[in-house]
Amino acid sequence: MRTARFTLDPAFTVGEVDPRLFGSFVEHLGRCVYTGVFEPGHPTADADGIRGDVLALVRELGVTAVRYPGGNFVSGYRWEDSVGPVEDRPRRLDLAWRSTETNRFGLSEFISFLRKIGPQAEPMMALNLGTRGVAEALQLQEYANHPGGTALSDLRAVHGDKDPFGIRLWCLGNEMDGPWQTGHKTAEEYGRLAAETARAMRQMDPGVQLVACGSSGRSMPTFAAWEAAVLQETYDLVDHISLHAYYEPLDGDVDSFLASAVDMETFIEDVVATCDHVGARLKSPKKISLSFDEWNVWYMSRTEEQVSALDWPEAPRLLEDSYSVMDAVVLGSLLIALLRHADRVTVACLAQLVNVIAPIMTEPGGPAWRQTTFHPFAQASRYGRGEVLDVRVDSPTYGTQKYGEADLLHATAVRAEDGTVTVFAVNRSRTEPLPLEVALNGLGPASVVEHSVLADADPDARNTLAEPDRVTPHAAEGTALEGGRLTAVLEPLSWNVIRLA
Ligand code: AHR
Repeated sequence: MRTARFTLDPAFTVGEVDPRLFGSFVEHLGRCVYTGVFEPGHPTADADGIRGDVLALVRELGVTAVRYPGGNFVSGYRWEDSVGPVEDRPRRLDLAWRSTETNRFGLSEFISFLRKIGPQAEPMMALNLGTRGVAEALQLQEYANHPGGTALSDLRAVHGDKDPFGIRLWCLGNEMDGPWQTGHKTAEEYGRLAAETARAMRQMDPGVQLVACGSSGRSMPTFAAWEAAVLQETYDLVDHISLHAYYEPLDGDVDSFLASAVDMETFIEDVVATCDHVGARLKSPKKISLSFDEWNVWYMSRTEEQVSALDWPEAPRLLEDSYSVMDAVVLGSLLIALLRHADRVTVACLAQLVNVIAPIMTEPGGPAWRQTTFHPFAQASRYGRGEVLDVRVDSPTYGTQKYGEADLLHATAVRAEDGTVTVFAVNRSRTEPLPLEVALNGLGPASVVEHSVLADADPDARNTLAEPDRVTPHAAEGTALEGGRLTAVLEPLSWNVIRLA
C-alpha cells in the first residue's frame, strides 16, 4: 500500500474550535429521556430521578451544548405543559413519534440535568415554530431567562427555579422544510416567521444567539434555495443556520458509507457558499456560522415502519440502533469533517445522547454502557480543543459508487494552547493497513504520547448489554516521531488518535 502523507505547519490553520462543536441532543423520543437520562427508582438515580450511571457516562463523553426538547417533537411542544407541579402536568399526544408524552420530565428537570453535567454543558433550546409562533416563543424566553418581577419569571420562581436558566442559544424551529414536520412551511413562510420571532426575541435580549432552520438534508429538493430564501429574510437577525445529516450503508454499499464524510464536507461547503452568496447580495460584512445540530450514523431505513405501527405508548423502544466498529469509524470520520470546517461550523450536536441513535445505552432498572461510537466522540471532545491545522492529504484512493474516487486517509490535526498536537485519522480501507507519514514544520512536539486505535478483526463487533466492553480503543505499536517526521501504520478500517507532545 502506498504511503499517505501530509504536512503540519502552524502558519496554515483553519480556525479555533468552538467547544460547542461537541454538542449533543436530548429529544422526547423513545427512551432518550424516560429510562435514559431520567428514571426515578433506578438504583443509581438521585432525588431528581437522574440516573447516576448515565450522568457519569455523559460527563466522560464530554458533551457541551445539549439541544432540547426536539427534533420533530418540538413542533407540537407546549412549553407550559412541561413546567410546574408534576402532578398537574398534562399527558399529551406526541404526533411526531406517535407516543404519549407524560411531561414528567420537563424544562426545569432538563436544566437541572445540565447543571449536574457541569459548567461545560449549555442548553440549546428549540422553539416550536410548527404549531406556534412569536407569542409563545417570547413567553418561554421570559419564563426561562428573565430574572424576576414579571408574571412569567415570577411563575418560574414559584415553580422552584428562582435563578433564571440563562438560555443563550435558541433554535427557531426544527426541520421546517420537511413535509413530515407538524406545521411544515414553505421557505418564504418560514423565513418570515423566523425573522419576526428573532426580532421579537432580540427586543427582550439582544444577546440571544439564534439558529435559523436550514434544510433537513442535502438531498432535499429545496436544498440551497431554502437556505437562500430563509437567509434573505433573517440574515441580520440570526447567528447560525442549521444542517442535519444522517448516514447509513444503503443497498449494501459499504464503500460509499465509509466515505460519508465526503458528503458531509460538501454539504458544509455548499451551505457556506449559500450563506456568503446571500451576504454578498445584501452587501453585509457579517458571516453566518453553521450549526450542524443533528448528525450521526442512523439506520433510518430500518426504523421508518416502526413509528407508523405505534399506538401511542409511553417511551417505546424506538431508533435504538446498535453500532458496530465500522459505524464508529464512520462517526470518527464525520467528527474529522466537522473539525476540518471549524472556521464556520461553531455548533454541532450528535443526535442523540441516550438510547435513541445514541452513544450511551441503558436498560430500565439495569446498567448503562458505551456504544462503539462513544469512543471517537469522547476522544475528539477531549483532545480536539484548540486550533485546527490545515491538513491537505496526499493519499491513495479507492472507488465508491456515490462519491467516485475517495481518499483512503481522512485526517485533521488540532494544536492545543500548550503546544501539544493531536492527529485524528481514519483509514477507510476494509482490508489494508495504511502507512502514514506526517511532516511537522515549525511545530514543538518531539515525541508521541499515545497512538490510540479503534479497530477490530470483526468490523461488525459491537458493545451489548451482555458484553458492554467488547470494543474499546487499544494502543498501536510502532508509531514514532523523529526529526520532525511522524510515522505510523493505520490498521484497516480504523479510527486513530495520535497525541504528540
Ligand atoms: O434525531 C431524530 C429525528 O431526526 C429528529 O427528531 C428530527 O429532527 C430528524 O429528522
